[in-house]
Amino acid sequence: MICLWSKNGLRAGLRHRRSSWPRMAEFLQYCARWSLFYVGGAFELAGNACGNVANLLCERKQDTSRYKSANGKVCVVTGANAGVGLSTAKLLAKRGGHVILACRSKERGQKAAELVKSVTPLQGCCPPKVEVMQLDLASLKSVKKFCRNFDGRRLHLDLLVCNAGVMKLPQRTITEDGVEAQFQVNYLGHWLLTNCLLQDQLKLHKASRSPTSRRVVFVSSTAHKPGRIDFSDTNAEKGYDSMQRYSDSKLANVLAAREFQRRFDRNYNNFGSHTAVSVHPGLLHTELACGYFKGLVPKPLRCFTDPLMQHVVLPLALRPAEFGGESVLYAALAPDAEVRGEYVGHGKILKAAMPKDRNEEVVAQRLWSLSEKLTGYRPLKELS
Ligand SMILES: NC(=O)c1ccc[n+]([C@@H]2O[C@H](COP(=O)([O-])OP(=O)(O)OC[C@H]3O[C@@H](n4cnc5c(N)ncnc54)[C@H](OP(=O)(O)O)[C@@H]3O)[C@@H](O)[C@H]2O)c1
Repeated sequence: MICLWSKNGLRAGLRHRRSSWPRMAEFLQYCARWSLFYVGGAFELAGNACGNVANLLCERKQDTSRYKSANGKVCVVTGANAGVGLSTAKLLAKRGGHVILACRSKERGQKAAELVKSVTPLQGCCPPKVEVMQLDLASLKSVKKFCRNFDGRRLHLDLLVCNAGVMKLPQRTITEDGVEAQFQVNYLGHWLLTNCLLQDQLKLHKASRSPTSRRVVFVSSTAHKPGRIDFSDTNAEKGYDSMQRYSDSKLANVLAAREFQRRFDRNYNNFGSHTAVSVHPGLLHTELACGYFKGLVPKPLRCFTDPLMQHVVLPLALRPAEFGGESVLYAALAPDAEVRGEYVGHGKILKAAMPKDRNEEVVAQRLWSLSEKLTGYRPLKELS
């Protein structure tokens, strides 16, 4: 199995070889990174299968006693109409959160809201309060409109879960803002959303003079590990590899959490106790992951393998979406000191893979500047 996955790594390396990478060492390093990623993925899938079988045999209980309460807290979850986002929204609603589902389609959002409203609150928690607001991360105009609408409500934002995502878009797609779509939806749109919401919240906080504590959760992935931020080709003009772009965007999520945390810490007097954290939700049985795994089979074979994949392989090898929601819940509600700036998953702190050749802080700072340039947004001086 390990050989098979290593071979995949080599294939990935060959696929990604570019004239701009003439050095053999760099190429081998690249193959090794992808091989390690695939081997790690194989182990995670095997662990998932064991976990799923164990859950069939005995009910799993999650220990949430260390978590902060979500009672009455305003929680915005992007991409909350499906998969990890939906299950996160349900878990927050169960804990008394006022959950705002930020969805691309209002209709899909409304359907999800009915499901979220129907959860039974835990003992001592408020009944669920659920709303839907429209947000398309592939449009910076839509992100700004969402922030204006949210600001108009004069709500105190407690938690922002940047969850929405797309994976392995087969064609290189450029958004109306001129940015490669996976990078914009998974990272850049969320970067702008976080900055705009924080800016409005800062004004609100200054007016009310109330002490603040907020948290931003960036849903990343173990796929950030082979990611790289190629500042010389930010829009994949030299060559588009859908999986590489996904990994890059997920690395950007991890770097964003670190950079926001550094800025919060530097500006404690302006922001109070703010926390930014990134999370790997697990390999989960959602549309995004199922699409990826089915796509690994050569096209002519798919009519034979798809039913087997759908009914046997994927339900066994991938954890249910609720498991991902629980991972996000840990990132969202664990004590501040435990998760500040960290990359977490499966209810614990994980080790993120950071750019080896360059200083992480320098890369994160450059990514921040690039985000300013691409969005045309100048973040607050209070967040410098
Ligand atoms: N599933 C996994 O195994 C796995 C593993 C690691 C990380 N993740 C991460 O977990 C997050 C959620 O993934 P998932 O597995 O739950 O996938 P999913 O079931 O496909 O859900 C993706 C969500 O993102 C929304 N979305 C897509 N494009 C959008 C846009 N332009 N604007 C606003 N919302 C948009 C989708 O809305 P529509 O319904 O309108 O398309 C949907 O609600 C992603 O960030 C993903 O990278 C997932």
